[in-house]
Amino acid sequence: MRKKVSIIGAGNVGATTAHWLAAKQLADIVLLDIVEGVPQGKGLDLLQSGPIEGFDSYVVGTNDYADTANSDIIVVTSGAPRKPGMSREDLIKINTDITRQCVQNAVPGSPNAILILVNNPLDAMSYVAFKASGFPRNRVLGMAGVLDTARYRTFLAREAGVSVEDVQAMLLGGHGDEMVPLPRFTTVSGMPITQFIDADKLEAIVNRARKGGGEIVALLKTGSAYYAPAAAVAQMIEAILLDKKRVLPCAAYLEGEYGLSDLYFGVPIVLGAGGMEKIIELPLSEDEQALVQKSADAVSSTIDIIKNMGS
Ligand code: NAI
Ligand code: 2OP
Repeated sequence: MRKKVSIIGAGNVGATTAHWLAAKQLADIVLLDIVEGVPQGKGLDLLQSGPIEGFDSYVVGTNDYADTANSDIIVVTSGAPRKPGMSREDLIKINTDITRQCVQNAVPGSPNAILILVNNPLDAMSYVAFKASGFPRNRVLGMAGVLDTARYRTFLAREAGVSVEDVQAMLLGGHGDEMVPLPRFTTVSGMPITQFIDADKLEAIVNRARKGGGEIVALLKTGSAYYAPAAAVAQMIEAILLDKKRVLPCAAYLEGEYGLSDLYFGVPIVLGAGGMEKIIELPLSEDEQALVQKSADAVSSTIDIIKNMGS
C-alpha cells in the first residue's frame, strides 16, 4: 500500500509540494484547505497529470479532515499573510490560532503521523504544533534549513562555477535574517569552500542567503517563495518515507542541545522513518556560538509572545 501524506493549506507551497510528491511517486496525497473548491480543483487537476507524467499516486482535495485519516505525514502550510495595518504580533496570533486548529483537527485521525510545519514564523509555529499535538519531539519538525541551505548552495555553486550537487553546506538557527550559515562546514565535494571562493564573496553570499526569503517577496510583491520551499518539504518527506537517514538541517525541539532549551531551532538532524532520529551537535567556535545565541534570542522572543497569549 502506498504511504499517505496530507497537506493542510492548498495554497502556493501546499499545492507545489503535492506536485513534487506526485512527480516523485512518493505517496498518495490529500490536499486540505478551508476554501471550498480550491483544494478539490487543484487535486483533480494534479491527478489528471498522472497519465502524462506517469505517476499513479492518488491525489484528492478536500475541506474535510476525515479524508486525512491514517496519514503517515501531515504537512502544515496553512497561514494568513500580513495585511496592511497588522502588527507582527497580530500575525503571530492569527497563525498560532490557525496552526493549533489545524493540528488539533488532523492529529486524532493520524495519531502516528509525523508533522512537518512550514507556515511562518516557522520556529514558533513548530513549537505551537508540538504543544498542540502532544506528539514526541521526534515526530514534530519544521522545514526551513533545507530551503535556506539550498539558497546558500545555489549562490555558492554559481559563484564557484561548480555543480549545485557538489556543494554541501550546513546551517544553524531560526528561519529569519539571524540564521547562521556555517562556511567552516561548507565544502565542494569534501574540499573547503574557501579554496573556491574568496572571503569577501563568501560573506556577501552568506548575507544574501540569510535574506533569501525577503529577496523573493520583494520580487513577487504578492506572496512568498514556493518552488524551492515545496521541493525542500518533498526532500524531507522522501527522507522519512524511504528511511534514508539523511543529515539535513531542520527545526527541532531542543532539550539542552547547543545550550538551548524549550524552543524550536534549526540544527543538523538524522531524518528517517522515525522522524528526527538524532540531533547532531557541532563543535562551535566562540563567534559561531554568539551568532547562534543571537538567533535563539530572536526565536525565543516570538515564542514568548505566544506563551504570553495563553491558549
Ligand atoms: P498561500 O496564501 O498561498 O496559502 C496558504 C493557504 O492556507 C491558503 O490556501 C489558505 O486558504 C489556507 N488556510 C488558511 N487558513 C486555513 C485553515 N484554518 N485551514 C486550512 N487552510 C487554511 O501561502 P503560501 O505561499 O502557500 O505559504 C504558506 C505558509 O508557508 C506561509 O505562512 C508562508 O510564510 C510559509 N512559508 C514558509 C517557508 C519556510 O521556509 N518555512 C517558505 C515559504 C513559505
Ligand atoms: C521564505 O523563506 C517566506 O519563509 C519564506 O521564502
